[in-house]
Amino acid sequence: MGIEIDLMKNYPKTKRDPFARLKSKTDQHRQIAREFGKDFFDCSRDTGYGGFTYDAKYWAPVIPDFNDHFGIGNNDSILDIGCAKGFMLNDFLNNNPTLKVSGIDISEYAINHGHPRVKEFLQIGDCRDLPFEDKSFDFSFSITTVHNVDKKECIKSLSEIERVTKKGSFITVDAYNNETEKKAMFAWNLTAKTILHVDEWKNLFDIAGYTGDYYWFLP
Ligand SMILES: C[S@@+](CC[C@H](N)C(=O)[O-])C[C@H]1O[C@@H](n2cnc3c(N)ncnc32)[C@H](O)[C@@H]1O
Repeated sequence: MGIEIDLMKNYPKTKRDPFARLKSKTDQHRQIAREFGKDFFDCSRDTGYGGFTYDAKYWAPVIPDFNDHFGIGNNDSILDIGCAKGFMLNDFLNNNPTLKVSGIDISEYAINHGHPRVKEFLQIGDCRDLPFEDKSFDFSFSITTVHNVDKKECIKSLSEIERVTKKGSFITVDAYNNETEKKAMFAWNLTAKTILHVDEWKNLFDIAGYTGDYYWFLP
């Protein structure tokens, strides 16, 4: 197995109140959010981001940690699984224009509204069945995406990440360490179908044969 490491530590923290969100969210909001269409990205906060627009303040401070940790170098290939509009890939390119970036996301809406700089490198697709040959990419990253499928499908998705990657991968998933965090995570959740204790995730990584690195999303 890989290592637990917070490569997202420089991603700006948002003040969140999971229990306020629990009160305002209905099953219908969750159902709409899980379609990952316009409502999820660019409409109300009830069904998603409430506006998913590019701002360098998010990924620009994070990319150097990925580069340093993995030793990402000129002409390396990178896949972002659950890339949404490709903002992370854009900031990888800002940092090193020689990289070969690719993104895949189940959302037709997000891909169609991809960041102009990277749009040509993005495609619609599913983390459960990546449309790439074995070892197609030097590095694969997947941020808060794999948990959006059920537990069995998470295993498949993790084994897919392993299959297409040559040198290193990193994922973050919704998780908790204790009962308090579990309550907050479930209160906050809008789209995830698999939210597990960190030890259960590690067990799943083993079952899937996932050897990449990982960290947790906690609200
Ligand atoms: C919380 S967003 C994260 C987006 C981006 N990784 C980020 O960190 O800004 C989750 C993303 O996963 C995508 N997604 C959900 N299910 C997916 C699947 N089965 N395969 C690929 N992408 C999926 C959604 O469309 C959405 O863009």
